[in-house]
Formats: sequence, C-alpha cells, structure tokens
Amino acid sequence: MKINYSKITRKVFFNQIAVFLSIPFVYLAFKTIFRQKSNNTIKEVRLPLELGKDVVFLNDIIYVNQNNEVRFYSSKCTHLGCKINTLKNDYLACGCHGSLFSLEGKVLNGPASTNLKSLGYIIDTETQEYIVKLG
Ligand code: FES
Repeated sequence: MKINYSKITRKVFFNQIAVFLSIPFVYLAFKTIFRQKSNNTIKEVRLPLELGKDVVFLNDIIYVNQNNEVRFYSSKCTHLGCKINTLKNDYLACGCHGSLFSLEGKVLNGPASTNLKSLGYIIDTETQEYIVKLG
C-alpha cells in the first residue's frame, strides 16, 4: 500500500499529532490507577492480645513474646524471601536455605545477611487487640 502524503490535510495531520502527544498522558493515567489499587493492600493487621507467651507464626508475621516483651517481625526471610515458619532450638529458622535468626530478629547464620524486619505495633485497649503495621 502506497501512502500519498500530499493528500494528508492539515486537520488530519494535527489530529495525528494530538493522538501521538496524548499517549504519555494515557500511560500516566493507567499507572496512577494501578498504583491506587496497589495502595489498597493491607497495611495493618489486628491480632488478639492473647496470642501466647512464646513464638507464634502467623501468615506474614512472627509474634515473639519473651519475658513479657512483645515483638513482631516480618516472616519474610531477608535472604530470598521464603516464609519463616519454624522454631528450631529457640531460633527462627528459614527452611529454604537454612538461615537462622535469634528471637530478637538478628541473623545468627546465613546465607541471610540482614536482620528480620521488625514491625511496629500499637495496642487498641478498646478492642483488646494488637494493631501491627505491615508497611
Ligand atoms: S530464603 Fe531464607 S535462607 Fe534463603
């Protein structure tokens, strides 16, 4: 198919330019929409105060209560992200490659090289719940 450029009118030309220039704005609009959807993910978890006195593995959270000092950690291993869900000789153990963490979240044995991510929390005294911040 041969295009005859001499038949393109000024109006068609500017319409094509307008369409071409609008592409970045359409891209930014879609990106904003998808970012808003991802921001709607869960940012905190409510857990009952009576979780126990030791270590509890929850979905994305590890609850540690040592001498009545409560701490929460992300259960995501800092090596490659496997879920830590095992207590081995009083250490938090990753089943994927064998990293060990203390109950304070510190790396004791690699291949992980950074400590577990500590999660902040507050206590809702009305509902008797921990509100653990995931982000
Ligand atoms: S992912 Fe945990 S040790 Fe590799």
